[in-house]
Amino acid sequence: MLSRKVADRLAGMQTPFYLYDMDLLRLTLESAVSMAARYGYQLHYAIKANYDPRLLEMIRQYGLGIDCASGNEVRCAIEAGFDPAKIVYAGVGKKDDELRYAIDQGLFAINCESLEELDVLSALAVEAGKKVTVALRVNPDIDPKTNHCIDTGQADSKFGISYEEILEHSGHIRQLPGICVRGMHLHIGSQIRELHVFEYLCEKVNVIVENLEKAGFQLEFVDVGGGLGINYDMPENEPVPNFASVFAIINSHLRVGDRPVHFEFGRAIVGECGELITRVLYNKTTATGRKLLIVDSSMTELIRPALYGAYHNIENITSKEEKREKYTIVGTACESTDKFDENVSLPVSKRGDLLTLKSAGAYGQSMASRYNLHDLPRSVYSDEL
Ligand SMILES: Cc1ncc(COP(=O)(O)O)c(C=O)c1O
Repeated sequence: MLSRKVADRLAGMQTPFYLYDMDLLRLTLESAVSMAARYGYQLHYAIKANYDPRLLEMIRQYGLGIDCASGNEVRCAIEAGFDPAKIVYAGVGKKDDELRYAIDQGLFAINCESLEELDVLSALAVEAGKKVTVALRVNPDIDPKTNHCIDTGQADSKFGISYEEILEHSGHIRQLPGICVRGMHLHIGSQIRELHVFEYLCEKVNVIVENLEKAGFQLEFVDVGGGLGINYDMPENEPVPNFASVFAIINSHLRVGDRPVHFEFGRAIVGECGELITRVLYNKTTATGRKLLIVDSSMTELIRPALYGAYHNIENITSKEEKREKYTIVGTACESTDKFDENVSLPVSKRGDLLTLKSAGAYGQSMASRYNLHDLPRSVYSDEL
């Protein structure tokens, strides 16, 4: 873990901040790209996971495309130098001005998530004198066996169009003048650690693709989304996620002929390379005897624990104490849910000590807010220390 190795150099720095291990990001990208190349898979980075310009620069250098969830994400990707022809754009609630902007950019595909969106997109494309490539985001009704807050592919989810609805309206969709359906897309959820879920995903995709073809769609590509999980419990044991296994599973179970297969990984690309470094401000014991460590960051820097009950492994990187204590680690925000974890065993920790919240590279800095008028967290990179 980087922060422990460079703790002396971090000690004098103003906290909190995100620390990015650029060597680990490089290793992760090398692994993802070389494993994907074995099967000719196309990789997009889900930019929502982290917009940091230095991270984006490295990701672009490795040739990945981008997966976006808003017009501003499309703009951010293009400004960071990504080729629009490698950008896909999903989202259940694309606004008209976002769609107009996306139509003008000539993206690889707009992934549509409702019948009404298809109608609106077609009308806006006709207005612009264009025909846009669309992938239908299908809701496959799969339980991804992850935290319920981040599953997206079960029947009742707001994401994607039900497969039955697509078949029922296939004639209407195919004659829409402003769009051409060329792909099928799905994304069933995030932080998937039970990899056999990807087998079910393939089985569903095989059936869906076959039936969409029978319904008259000519599908030229299949986009199976992202979702590969990382090891939040013991990140040191698995700093680079298991791209080899997920690609091998997809390769042996997916039957989509020679159509290119696209992936949209976010967490698996940037999750492990980032840590949130924060300083202990105060010790306090509640009337019930609970020992609190109050640190100088909060849900405004890293909202995942408060938002989803997500776990981040926490360590004290500067304490030399032998004796350990169990702490509840809370932040500075004026919210009771602003708590990073409970019962955390740490060396006895005192004001000024530095803590790291590990595996915070994905959905950490990108979800930061200015609630309580906190400053947005800054980035520190390993190669600039
Ligand atoms: C459509 C889509 N694709 C890809 C991703 C990236 O998921 P992950 O970070 O789990 O790889 C998301 C995440 O929310 C998504 O909504």
